This record gives sequence, structure tokens and C-alpha cells, in this order.
Amino acid sequence: MESNFLEIVLEHYRENDWKSILKLNEKSDNPKALKILWAWPEESNLFFLKYCLERYNIEGIMSIGCGCGLLEWIIEKCSGVRVSGYEVNKEWWESKYSNPCFIPLNFVENISSLYLNNKFALMFCYFNNGEAFREYINRYNGEMVIIIGPSYGSGRHTDPQPFNPNFGHSCWHLRHFQQLKDTKDFIAIYLRFNISQLE
Ligand SMILES: C[S@@+](CC[C@H](N)C(=O)[O-])C[C@H]1O[C@@H](n2cnc3c(N)ncnc32)[C@H](O)[C@@H]1O
Repeated sequence: MESNFLEIVLEHYRENDWKSILKLNEKSDNPKALKILWAWPEESNLFFLKYCLERYNIEGIMSIGCGCGLLEWIIEKCSGVRVSGYEVNKEWWESKYSNPCFIPLNFVENISSLYLNNKFALMFCYFNNGEAFREYINRYNGEMVIIIGPSYGSGRHTDPQPFNPNFGHSCWHLRHFQQLKDTKDFIAIYLRFNISQLE
């Protein structure tokens, strides 16, 4: 199964069978799986995400640095939530060397001219560019930022990290979080700080 991991994923993808895709890396210990997605959730993590979106009336997710979009496709299939994906390096993603994509990718040439829907959450899964993260945050007028990545001591690093990310200012506070299985990867849900929450 190791050698044709991607082909098996694609087969399930064509059958709309996201549950079988998650089962392929149930223990999050398959190195081939990391080539297409850095953080592998289980079903309960997807329901946690759906619960958080519904609780705060968030209508969808814009996933920044979505890679090939496998997680985004799975979230959409499992929860019915709309998810759009954003990437850089169009040439790479359209070349024969890249992974096949599971959702259509939107390519960002200039963050300062990008439209970000304020009814959607911004999501960063294993994002690796703190400076660009802060640029996206500065342009975003919505209420929720989702960060997925490793916690302290996991041996992996992202920027932003799920805990104690550098937003560049203090408008955001951590409201919910959940571990992906027992991987030391976490989903962290940040909400825009609202004075009325103090009252
Ligand atoms: C470590 S990968 C994670 C990919 C995917 N989210 C995952 O979890 O498998 C980080 C991704 O962020 C993308 N990225 C880096 N800077 C970006 C930017 N300024 N805007 C959008 N995507 C960016 C990279 O191209 C890369 O695909």
C-alpha cells in the first residue's frame, strides 16, 4: 500500500469517500501521507471545526497555503461548509511535478489586492510564513482565524504556531482548541477580541 498511497487516495477521492482517505493514515504514522497533507485529522476533529463555525455563524473557510487542498476537500465533504484554497507559485502547481489538486486553487500574486470575505474564517494549516500571515490578518475584517499546527515539543515548527502566534497586534484571543488524535498537532480557534465580551 505504501508505494501507491497517492493513487489509493485519488481512487477514494473520485468516489467521494473521504472517510476511507482518513483511514489510510489513521495512526498519523505514514510518511507518504505527509507528502499530501501535513496534519491528518479524525472525524471528531472535523465535527469540532464544524461546531465552532456554526456557533459563531461563520459561513465558510478561506484556507491560506492550502497545498493540494486535500484537507479542504475533506472538510467540505464532511461538514458541508464551503472551503476555498489559496496558494502561491502557480507555475509549480500547474507543473507535472506537483501533487494533483483536490480543490481548485486560487493563486495569490499580491496579498494587498486580495479580497477576503469577512463572513468566512481564515485558516492556516502548517503555514510557514509569519510575515505573510500578518499581512493576511491585516487585510481580514472577519471574526475567526483557525490555526492548525504542532504544539510545543512536537519537534515540528510552523509560523504561525497554534499557540501564542504573532498576529502583530492584540485583536485576537484563543477561544477553543482541540488536538488532532494524539499527534501533538492542534486546531486552535481565535476570535476577534470584542469589547462586549468583557461586559
Ligand atoms: C507546509 S505547506 C502546508 C500545506 C497544507 N496546508 C498542508 O497542511 O498540507 C505551506 C504552504 O503554504 C504556502 N504558502 C507560503 N506562503 C504563502 C503565501 N504568502 N500565500 C499563500 N500560500 C503560501 C506554500 O506554498 C505551501 O504550500
